[in-house]
Amino acid sequence: MKLGTAQQDRIRYYEFSQDQTLDFLAACHDINIHDLHFMPYKRYLLSGHLLEAVGEDFQQSLNKCLRDYASGCAILAFGQGLTQDDQIKISTAVSHLISEPAVQGPGGNYYGITKIVDDDNPKFKLMFPYEDFSLHTDGVFEDNPVDWLMMMKLREHQVSGGHSRLLHMADWEAYDIFHDDPGNQSLRHGLLEKDGRYNVFRKFSTMEPSHSAILYKRDSQRRVKFVDQYVIPRTINQARFIARFQLAIEQSRHVRNVALPPGSMIILNNHFWMHGRSKFERHPQLEREQLRQYGCF
Ligand SMILES: [Fe+2]
Repeated sequence: MKLGTAQQDRIRYYEFSQDQTLDFLAACHDINIHDLHFMPYKRYLLSGHLLEAVGEDFQQSLNKCLRDYASGCAILAFGQGLTQDDQIKISTAVSHLISEPAVQGPGGNYYGITKIVDDDNPKFKLMFPYEDFSLHTDGVFEDNPVDWLMMMKLREHQVSGGHSRLLHMADWEAYDIFHDDPGNQSLRHGLLEKDGRYNVFRKFSTMEPSHSAILYKRDSQRRVKFVDQYVIPRTINQARFIARFQLAIEQSRHVRNVALPPGSMIILNNHFWMHGRSKFERHPQLEREQLRQYGCF
């Protein structure tokens, strides 16, 4: 495992050697993806195999990094040429070194895979390829708190663009101005019952909205809770504050663009990092698959 830091700074890189990745995959050869779906204990067996391959220190190092306000972001690279099953095993091994991941969708699985293709009218905003996906944090409902989130790039075909966009609240030049703005009031974060997505989410959430100001501080850390699709204002002034806030974060010169090759993942602290995605360049054969997991420390 090679360690590195980029931009002086917040993102910690873990680059694993091919031998380490292959040792891990050989050790868990007998565990298949069906086992992982149905037998939670096997997920932790993968974590054990990963530590044997990369060294026991990795668990502590990763967890320290994710809780550290000065960082809170790790990029892990396992090499290219891995199958989808290999990558599901790797992501499972890593996530279970942090904590048990939350359910990801109506199927009850602990990970979700999103495929983006050339499509101008996809079902979810996340899948719209040709616009920037706006900066946000994950977790909306009261029963859906998110401390950490993982995104692993599984596969790309005819892809140009589509990079991760990231902003750490400590880097955002206008944080204090917006934090102290009278418009930064407690807001409802949820989904209106008439929304077409309500019945999808209801299968794995009580749908009870959470309430929080978009910007709040805890232990002198700058924190944020925001998804433009799931914040429900009650007044014109609240809506105007949301619009000003969103414009300001999107225009921050500290938004980073990070390209993630297949076989790599990014893990973020969801309280002080916002994430999004830059648009893809139009291509009729565009395909990109990404796996996500998230959970609480
Ligand atoms: Fe997200």
